[in-house]
Amino acid sequence: MQWVSLLLLAGLCSLSGAQYDEDSHWWFQYLRSQQSTYYDPYEPYPYEPSDPYPYPYGVEEGPAYAYGSPSPPDPRDCPQECDCPPNFPTAMYCDNRNLKYLPFVPSRMKYVYFQNNQISSIQEGVFDNATGLLWIALHGNQITSDKVGKRVFSKLKHLERLYLDHNNLTRMPGPLPRSLRELHLDHNQISRVPNNALEGLENLTALYLQHNEIQEVGSSMRGLRSLILLDLSYNHLRRVPDGLPSALEQLYLEHNNVFTVPDSYFRGSPKLLYVRLSHNSLTNNGLATNTFNSSSLLELDLSYNQLQKIPPVNTNLENLYLQGNRINGETWGEGLCGHFTGKTYSE
Ligand SMILES: *[C@@H]1O[C@H](CO)[C@@H](O)[C@H](O)[C@H]1NC(C)=O
Ligand SMILES: *[C@@H]1O[C@H](CO)[C@@H](O)[C@H](O)[C@H]1NC(C)=O
Ligand SMILES: *[C@@H]1O[C@H](CO)[C@@H](O)[C@H](O)[C@H]1NC(C)=O
Ligand SMILES: *[C@@H]1O[C@H](CO)[C@@H](O)[C@H](O)[C@H]1NC(C)=O
Repeated sequence: MQWVSLLLLAGLCSLSGAQYDEDSHWWFQYLRSQQSTYYDPYEPYPYEPSDPYPYPYGVEEGPAYAYGSPSPPDPRDCPQECDCPPNFPTAMYCDNRNLKYLPFVPSRMKYVYFQNNQISSIQEGVFDNATGLLWIALHGNQITSDKVGKRVFSKLKHLERLYLDHNNLTRMPGPLPRSLRELHLDHNQISRVPNNALEGLENLTALYLQHNEIQEVGSSMRGLRSLILLDLSYNHLRRVPDGLPSALEQLYLEHNNVFTVPDSYFRGSPKLLYVRLSHNSLTNNGLATNTFNSSSLLELDLSYNQLQKIPPVNTNLENLYLQGNRINGETWGEGLCGHFTGKTYSE
């Protein structure tokens, strides 16, 4: 609800050409609120992604066409379907206007917004001149994997954020620029993540793949050495990813079909704070004794599984969720005795 009203405001602002600063402000607020509303059920939101460009206007450096600049950008390069605000010359707004195709992006652009249109393809060459792009927003369209050019992203050596969520993708896009920091692919129909799909993304910190049809991710996550947040919830995974990134802090796997977690699985991620595995098929037989006895964990959600006993957990754990399992009264004490001194404990 909240971001719907922000969107409406953004729409109003863009009617008046004098208020582009407002417009982009709202837009960034919207992006942020969109990210955080997803986690509402688990307030407080544990992780605010570090945001290098919260408000690009005013952050621009170099020979930017700031207020009073003697050489304003040539407005003629702006596609007629889009708005290119003169006081924010590196941004192009083409969102929410029933576009069916992507217009060519001029070379000066760093932030381009195409979200909420009816775009179904990303044609070859469309970003070729805009090699300085930092953000591409394409969410809320109808992009299908067969219509994504093979080399569309390959020249974008600086791209940091790519929003392709809420589209019709059935495969992972790629090759992807190694500079990516955030990749939004949630709410598509992707069925697997090949082992090499994310290769070389050394700076990727957040990967959103929730609400797809993923059955298999293999070892594709293992090499993501900067990854802090991995969201694979609402998929069809039967197994956890083969190897977790070492910097990982948040792992979301709820609403899958995971039935087992290997012993020492979390040892490779010593910073892991939040693990959500609710609504899976976990049984005690599928868990080794010390699977969840990982000292960094603060929150562990094991609700709505088929556990009959409480697995041993570490003494620092603050929130443990176990409702919707088959734990009976007599076994309640066993897993917790002497181990768990947590603050919240929910049946
Ligand atoms: C792309 O850049 C080249 C070289 O700067 C320029 O000649 C060409 O007109 C640009 N293409 C478009 C479609 O803007
Ligand atoms: C994308 O998916 C939506 C919803 O399933 C569907 O209505 C639409 O026709 C699809 N578009 C394309 C281009 O496949
Ligand atoms: C990753 O980030 C660092 C520091 O910001 C930067 O120097 C490096 O070039 C980035 N790597 C890639 C592949 O873009
Ligand atoms: C949990 O791990 C710690 C440290 O590795 C160990 O001392 C403790 O005995 C383990 N707890 C259980 C219940 O095995």
